[in-house]
Amino acid sequence: MREVAIIRGDGIGPEISEATQQVLETAGAALRWQEVILGQEAKRRWGSELPAESVERIRRIGVALKAPLIAEPRSGGLWIEGHGERRRYPSVNNGLRRELGAYANLRPVLGFPGVSGRYQNLDIILVRELTEDTYAGIERQPEEGRAEAVKLVTREASERIARFACDYALRHGRRKITAVHKANVLHLTDGLFLESVRSVVAQYPELCFDDRMVDAACYLMVKEPCVFDVLVLPNQYGDILSDLAAGLVGSLGLVPGVNIGPGVAVFEAAHGAAPDIAGKGIANPIGLILSGAMLLDHLGQREAAERVRRAVARVLAAGRCQTPDLGGHSSTRELTRAICAEIECT
Ligand code: NAI
Repeated sequence: MREVAIIRGDGIGPEISEATQQVLETAGAALRWQEVILGQEAKRRWGSELPAESVERIRRIGVALKAPLIAEPRSGGLWIEGHGERRRYPSVNNGLRRELGAYANLRPVLGFPGVSGRYQNLDIILVRELTEDTYAGIERQPEEGRAEAVKLVTREASERIARFACDYALRHGRRKITAVHKANVLHLTDGLFLESVRSVVAQYPELCFDDRMVDAACYLMVKEPCVFDVLVLPNQYGDILSDLAAGLVGSLGLVPGVNIGPGVAVFEAAHGAAPDIAGKGIANPIGLILSGAMLLDHLGQREAAERVRRAVARVLAAGRCQTPDLGGHSSTRELTRAICAEIECT
């Protein structure tokens, strides 16, 4: 049995967490869940969405399954106290990742027969840098009617994300790394990112390298996404392109992910808390369920992970049980039951 933190999250979070736990348990995962409270519930109980004790428990446990958290637009940012200082972050999700030292966000975007149409064979990996760029939280308003945000890029963080992507590519039999940037306009910042990624990939003779300007990358992603294999992106482009890629395969609700830092891995779906459908019982749980399968891989429970992935693919291919985001009328619970039934009968 391996201890895993579970953060049930906000909005659709509790519905899809329940579904995911049920599927992983049906697949025979040997996990002992430890509930950690963050987000709106933490704010209600303790006055902060990001209590330092909750972050510390995740750090100690080292592996977490996290449902989405609502990030309210606010001018003051979000504060966390600990180790004798107060730190400010632009949102609860950004704050959690950075408090944990998570620097890489990995999102595999996979097409599925039955729901992904012409993108059903898509199989690409987006690797997003998590600590810098315009999401570093360096924003200011020097005067009324003028606001500024700093785009922060360092060689150290760019090389670190590039090494992460290359190591991942080698371990998973991938062949090509594409750096996404806008170095023709942002010469210094995106230029440094591009140069850093290029120099790291050059140390991996097994891998090919190319680069795309972010606007052209968006175009190609829609027009001819199979030209990509592993993409390495600065924080903001990574945020945007991973939602775009999720749209191609049919729904934000299909794409899993993980945030990785030293000694910590937080598995979460690509989507947010979807407040527009929260509590209606119609959220697609597959993104979090597949994040759960990635978590099982991470813990070496590969057979259970494979059972989950196979069942999800079969249920989607059969096309009988689909939540509304996929064009169907099924509820979260019906889809979850169908996946569990598929696991049980194979
Ligand atoms: P969102 O991803 O929550 O929703 C965008 C659209 O996709 C909505 O129409 C929603 O109904 C739909 N959608 C998303 N996930 C779905 C699912 N599993 N099944 C069916 N439909 C789904 O993005 P939005 O609306 O911009 O953000 C809502 C809240 O979530 C915000 O507070 C945002 O800051 C937060 N958020 C949290 C993230 C996290 O915890 N990692 C990531 C992104 C956003």
